[in-house]
Amino acid sequence: MAKISQRTIDEIHSAMRIEEVVGDFVSLKRQGSGFVGICPFHDDRNPSMHVTPRLGIYKCFVCDAKGNAINFLMEHEKISYPEALEYLAKKYSISIEYERQETDTEREQRTERESLYLVNVFAEKFFMDQLHNTEEGQLMGMTYLKERGFKDSTIDQFHLGYCPEAWDTFTKEALKQGYQEDFLLKLGLCHKSSTGKLYDFYRGRVIFPIHNVMGKVIGFGGRVLKKDEKTAKYYNSPENEIYHKRETLYDIYLAKKAIRNADNIYLVEGYTDVISMFEAGIENVVASSGTSLTEEQIHILSRQSKNITVLYDGDRAGIKASMRGIDLLLNKGMNVKVCLLPDGDDPDSFAKKHRDSELKEFLEKNTTDFLLFKAQILSEDAGNDPMKRAAMVSDVLKSIAGIQDNIVRAFYVKECARLFDLPEETLNTELKRLVWSNIRQGSQSTSTPVSIPQSPIPQLTVTSPKQETTHSDPLYESEKNLVMLLLQYGCYEIYLESEGERIPVRIDQFVCDEMLRDNIRLQSPALAKVFDSYVLSAELLNDQTAIQRALLVSEDQEVQDFVMKNLPTEVPAISPRWEEQYEVIVSSTHNSVITLQQEVQNVLLNLKFRVVEQAIADAQKQLQQPDIEEADTEILLGYMCDLLQTRKDISLLLNRTVS
Ligand code: CTP
Ligand code: MN
Repeated sequence: MAKISQRTIDEIHSAMRIEEVVGDFVSLKRQGSGFVGICPFHDDRNPSMHVTPRLGIYKCFVCDAKGNAINFLMEHEKISYPEALEYLAKKYSISIEYERQETDTEREQRTERESLYLVNVFAEKFFMDQLHNTEEGQLMGMTYLKERGFKDSTIDQFHLGYCPEAWDTFTKEALKQGYQEDFLLKLGLCHKSSTGKLYDFYRGRVIFPIHNVMGKVIGFGGRVLKKDEKTAKYYNSPENEIYHKRETLYDIYLAKKAIRNADNIYLVEGYTDVISMFEAGIENVVASSGTSLTEEQIHILSRQSKNITVLYDGDRAGIKASMRGIDLLLNKGMNVKVCLLPDGDDPDSFAKKHRDSELKEFLEKNTTDFLLFKAQILSEDAGNDPMKRAAMVSDVLKSIAGIQDNIVRAFYVKECARLFDLPEETLNTELKRLVWSNIRQGSQSTSTPVSIPQSPIPQLTVTSPKQETTHSDPLYESEKNLVMLLLQYGCYEIYLESEGERIPVRIDQFVCDEMLRDNIRLQSPALAKVFDSYVLSAELLNDQTAIQRALLVSEDQEVQDFVMKNLPTEVPAISPRWEEQYEVIVSSTHNSVITLQQEVQNVLLNLKFRVVEQAIADAQKQLQQPDIEEADTEILLGYMCDLLQTRKDISLLLNRTVS
């Protein structure tokens, strides 16, 4: 992507007025030299958000949201920095200038995308104009839309249009206005006949323009007017530089405000479902357009709300087919509900048959939890066939394993145990296995750069049970650091670099893998116990606080005491303690992740260093024994060399000198 030039950024900064930008989303009341309003970033009752034009900032005194106009847009609209700049440029009619150093191809691509948008803008206007201002548009298109029961205001809001039946009304006008044939073809607005003539793709259809999150028109759907037509009921834009079906959600632009207000998304199948729901007063609705949901669509949705209600028409084949897409929603941490419509109805027909209040009531009464719904359907299908029932249990457990929140997970296990008439224990055991294997999948063992040579002589492995040592013992300190790291940050993710790819992996998993590989066991019996208890809880729990809570009520008094004594009481995302302790500067999420990453490496390397030192000492002792055999001496000396080299490698990495 080309960078927006500093000059444009400066221009935007001097033009933007915080009260105008915030005022577009929040109603502001003047107070003193500034303004106050209801803070949109938390559930606010009294106006806690202060807007100070003099400083160009907003600040909420309750939830601590703060920043300038750009920050506000990024936070509130969930958009990126460049998108916020684009928004402001548009708002203040500043034309964006890009930095010169973009490559020729980049520039070409950008200008091509921009041209494609422009063509779409023209097409959208053209189709709207045809619908509203021509006889054919009124007679054919408008009559059809009215018959469907669409209101004028809706037709306007959705920018609906009409493309005339004649061969090339649109194409001719577009070419006349200077739009390139190439672009028209790419966008699928016109096609070329075998004789080389261009014709309108959407002839004789009503047009449903499709917009992206930012409100740009990226494509079109066109519906035939006649019932018995042989051709496809809907035509849609082909994939191109600006229209990606996988990322497209019909109505996301108009719906996003309502989605945020309701903190819920209704997901339906198509254009007409969306529009009918919208007309019935339910505006937090989008359509996935036919196919089952994609990851890209889920990503876009989850930035607006974590709660989604999928509306199904009542036919069973359809339900089962779309279940996989819904599992994906669960895996991405969305809370999924479903609402089953009466047999033979889709949201469009149902909304048209009922009053608005009836539709709302129906949705409220018939919305149920997705997983339980799925479990029920599968259970009915499986009947009494033991094999089918086993498959069903494993299917449902897989869905449950994808859920992040352990309390929610426990709830589902309980419900499914009841539903399937199985002991909770059985389900839990199987679930534990699935969850742990989920975690493992993430960890392609890319490791810290040094691994510890393993003793060639078994007796040499450091096993002597040590006394619980004083706190100044460096090995004890290293082990304690490791345990504390897990207690505080085990569930956090770091990134491993593997063949140029960044693979996320949980810190606890990474640490366990490393220790397993290097055959490291904690020497302090007390710390080893805490470590083992941690691993046990982490197998089932995905949430740091939940693990901490579990350890605080551990059956082992020693574990309880250790955690009680050492765990900082306030544990925000990245605790301030972290900063003090390791003198790291946490300025952004991105930075703090990197820092955490370094810290993990440090803690591990420190421990390894101590382990190696101990192994060296032990090997020395062994070498000094009077009855040692010559062959063993040779092996031990080789081992010693390896150990010394490893110690050197680690020291270098730790940037520490060894005396
Ligand atoms: N749809 C589509 N392509 C098709 C059929 C349907 O994209 N070939 C989508 C459309 O978004 C449509 C939704 O699925 O709004 C519902 O389909 P359907 O009910 O068949 O379309 P309607 O236009 O509502 O037709 P009808 O009046 O027959 O219900
Ligand atoms: Mn329909």
